[in-house]
Amino acid sequence: PHTEGAATLVKQEGTGTELPMTGDKVFVHYVGTLLDGTPFDSSRERGEKFSFELGKGQVIKAWDLGVATMKVGEISQLICKPEYAYGTAGSPPKIPPNATLVFQVELFEFRGEDITEGEDGGIIRRIITKGEGYTKPNEGAAVEVCLEGSCEGKVFDKRELKFELGDGESLGLPSGVEKALMAMEQGEESLFIIKPKYGYGNTGNSKYNIPGEATLQYKLKLTTFEKAKESWEMNSAEKLEQSIIVKEKGTQYFKEGKYRQASVQYKRIVSWLENESSLPEGEEQKAQALRLAAHLNLAMCFLKLQEPSSTFDNCDKALELDDTNEKALFRRGEALFAMKEFDRARADFQRVIQLYPSNKAAKSQVALCQKQIKEQHEKDKRLYANMFQKFAERDAKEEADKGMENGGGMEVEESGGQE
Ligand SMILES: *[C@@H]1O[C@H](CO)[C@@H](O)[C@H](O)[C@H]1NC(C)=O
Ligand SMILES: *[C@@H]1O[C@H](CO)[C@@H](O)[C@H](O)[C@H]1NC(C)=O
Repeated sequence: PHTEGAATLVKQEGTGTELPMTGDKVFVHYVGTLLDGTPFDSSRERGEKFSFELGKGQVIKAWDLGVATMKVGEISQLICKPEYAYGTAGSPPKIPPNATLVFQVELFEFRGEDITEGEDGGIIRRIITKGEGYTKPNEGAAVEVCLEGSCEGKVFDKRELKFELGDGESLGLPSGVEKALMAMEQGEESLFIIKPKYGYGNTGNSKYNIPGEATLQYKLKLTTFEKAKESWEMNSAEKLEQSIIVKEKGTQYFKEGKYRQASVQYKRIVSWLENESSLPEGEEQKAQALRLAAHLNLAMCFLKLQEPSSTFDNCDKALELDDTNEKALFRRGEALFAMKEFDRARADFQRVIQLYPSNKAAKSQVALCQKQIKEQHEKDKRLYANMFQKFAERDAKEEADKGMENGGGMEVEESGGQE
């Protein structure tokens, strides 16, 4: 096939059936020569495959165009005009100005782009139509989306939606869809493969008839979006005003049992007010109260979501603001309890009782901790007893083995001696 600036001559047909898509990570070997046959670069010589994201301008244009026409297993010769390679300047010292280049390229593999922060393979993107612009939606952005969710080839959700990122759970969208949207450009259409962790988890979704542990596919088109203001774009008055609004929103979600969504709202308060230093006189206390409430509410959300280490962190933050806060101490105790740190949990509950003697719940928590500590102790004792038993048995066996060897040897010697 010919594209404007890159002619592709197929030297060996590929075995694959699909072509790579924009944004895919592709793995190739290449040998680059000038038109007169002078070699200037070779991945084969280095003995290491070269990989890049297709269509993102990470390589010369001719490659983005040429490799997009290749199948897995294909070997092709790409003849690249200077406008689609290194242009009038060339790339000294090896590539002279205005050079047409010849690359022999073999395509080994391509795979979708992993868009998760930790690259855990949980959300893979295949771009169908590239978007435009340089910005992407942020938390709280107003988005307009066409979506089509399917599972094992069956479409279960097809809608056009307008909503704010962070509110997706209310609309029956899994967290992966919102994460996907935050990776998209205006006008982009992409296919996302979403693992259960970012989908409907191990419980599935009864409304859509999705079983637990299901991998989902979403075709998303981000028609348009408007970014939410970033912290640096807001003055302190706006931050305070918005914090009060999103706190209400978070509380509403919390009451509806939408803890993840509630947490998104409370986190926004922290992001706006945590390091806000230019508050006018008299507003500092207001901001501090909002931050404290945000951390206490986040602690509660994460308890509900069974993410005790996040609860723990937020209680610590709350206690930095108010070191005798009853709820912060109590919730940190609960987090530690869930983390099986019963000694430290007990210390927090005891501190609550010391400061707030009428707190009955803390008293029963202390009792629960005692029970766990005792059980843990018993268990340890049994474990150690078992271990000692095992050591003793092993020692006894080793002794016996030694005896056998020595005994055996001595017998031979003795019998030898006797003869
Ligand atoms: C490269 O090509 C351009 C346009 O065709 C021309 O103006 C320029 O002089 C050439 N440069 C060299 C070094 O040949
Ligand atoms: C506030 O500043 C601290 C210390 O520099 C930093 O770790 C934290 O991430 C900042 N918080 C926000 C919301 O930017």
